[in-house]
Amino acid sequence: MKLPPVIAIDGPTASGKGTVASLVAEKLGFHYLDSGALYRLVALASEKQGTDLQNASELGILAKRLVISFKNGQILLNSENVTQAIRDENIGLRASVIAVHPEVRQALVGVQHGFRLVPGLVADGRDMASVIFPDAVLKIFLTATAQARAERRYKQLIAKGIPAKLDDLLHDLQERDARDSSRGTAPLLVADGAKVLETSELSIDQAVKTVLDWYQSKTA
Ligand code: C5P
Repeated sequence: MKLPPVIAIDGPTASGKGTVASLVAEKLGFHYLDSGALYRLVALASEKQGTDLQNASELGILAKRLVISFKNGQILLNSENVTQAIRDENIGLRASVIAVHPEVRQALVGVQHGFRLVPGLVADGRDMASVIFPDAVLKIFLTATAQARAERRYKQLIAKGIPAKLDDLLHDLQERDARDSSRGTAPLLVADGAKVLETSELSIDQAVKTVLDWYQSKTA
């Protein structure tokens, strides 16, 4: 049986891949997987439970047992709405620490495959093209310079009335980039056959259009 098509969009933190991926999914009427949200959910649950960040086996068990649901743009963890809570910068940093453990990554494979439903899926993360959906019909590495990403994140936070310092944001995202790229299991990399989409100088609309054009040329 032929599995539904997948567009895999990987890239570093704050590259805008979530925004682009969800808009592409909307345009195509595809499902959308925000795989980073899963790592953030494990990070939040482990914080609530007080699990040590280096305790890989306990974190793996916790990841396997998570009761999560994605409904109408809301994310529930054990029926608590955590949509906002998982977006906290500290939870993002914590997620990048626990994501290093193979036990945690393995526990989340099945749930990610579960998103692959007709008519298709747009999946965003770090290892969508390399590990989770190696047969993706289109593989994209979406990136921007660290400075451009820090500035985008800064504007988002200020617009929400959340105080932020550009230098701190730049430092945090460089730290996360380094950890995501250097880990032994499923590091952030440009997968074989992936196209690089540099968005520092592109608007969101231009980035979305590029992805849709690439998809069309793959499936024409
Ligand atoms: O994409 P987002 O910033 O929400 O991801 C949070 C963290 O989860 C990343 O810094 C990364 O360490 C981890 N992650 C991962 N693999 C994925 C998605 C996210 O390791 N597929």
